[in-house]
Amino acid sequence: MRIDILTLFPQMFDSPFGIGIFKRAIDQNLIRVSIYNIRDYTHDKHHTVDDYPYGGGAGMVLKPEPIFEAVELIKSGIHSEQEDGVLPIILLTPQGRPFSQQIAHELSKYSNLILICGRYEGVDERVCEHLVTDEISIGDYVLSGGELAAMVVVDAVVRLLPGVLGSEASSWDESHTTGLLEYPQYTRPAVYREWSVPDVLLSGNHAQVAKWRREQAILRTLKRRPELLDKANLCLEERQLADRLRES
Ligand code: 6GU
Repeated sequence: MRIDILTLFPQMFDSPFGIGIFKRAIDQNLIRVSIYNIRDYTHDKHHTVDDYPYGGGAGMVLKPEPIFEAVELIKSGIHSEQEDGVLPIILLTPQGRPFSQQIAHELSKYSNLILICGRYEGVDERVCEHLVTDEISIGDYVLSGGELAAMVVVDAVVRLLPGVLGSEASSWDESHTTGLLEYPQYTRPAVYREWSVPDVLLSGNHAQVAKWRREQAILRTLKRRPELLDKANLCLEERQLADRLRES
């Protein structure tokens, strides 16, 4: 997958892409990430990327020209290589559709992604209307720019690409996209400051462990994110358990 990111702050991407799964995915040629400074696509002496909003108001708005020119240049490069028809051009903005694991799966199917990091005060609407194909937000809170959001999206997408995680981790992931929150995890020591690991986990009884985990996941989801339970992938028995827990 080729990932092109447009930003006013290219340095912000140095450290995340220099370590961990990103670095490994880049080194193994599973992804190719290019960062573009929007400022490099200006033509005036002062490299102006923003301007006052028409109609007045606080903050500055990102100008359309450098963004259009940068994206068009990137697009022409992609066309000369390979392309599977659709090329998502995603603006990271608080006005976007809420990001989710399902959207991460959707995006992981493309061979190319172009991400544009907006800034909180805004991007000229003509970019949204005539250039961008998708707008994504990572939650209902305010970030000063789309950079951290772009990193969140890229992380969630890249870890879904074949070969990025070991096969063990990816099949683990697969079986856990149930729509439930995770069950509690423990490691050694079995007793720490008088706090014991639940007996069932030390029992060696795999069926009992699996049952306990499933119940804990349902219980935790019910307590913390009850709205997730309605959409969760539960068998009849689990659905009945959830209903019993809800009533008690
Ligand atoms: Cl994508 N951008 C900004 N500036 N703030 C956000 C966001 C994006 N998602 C949540 N808050």
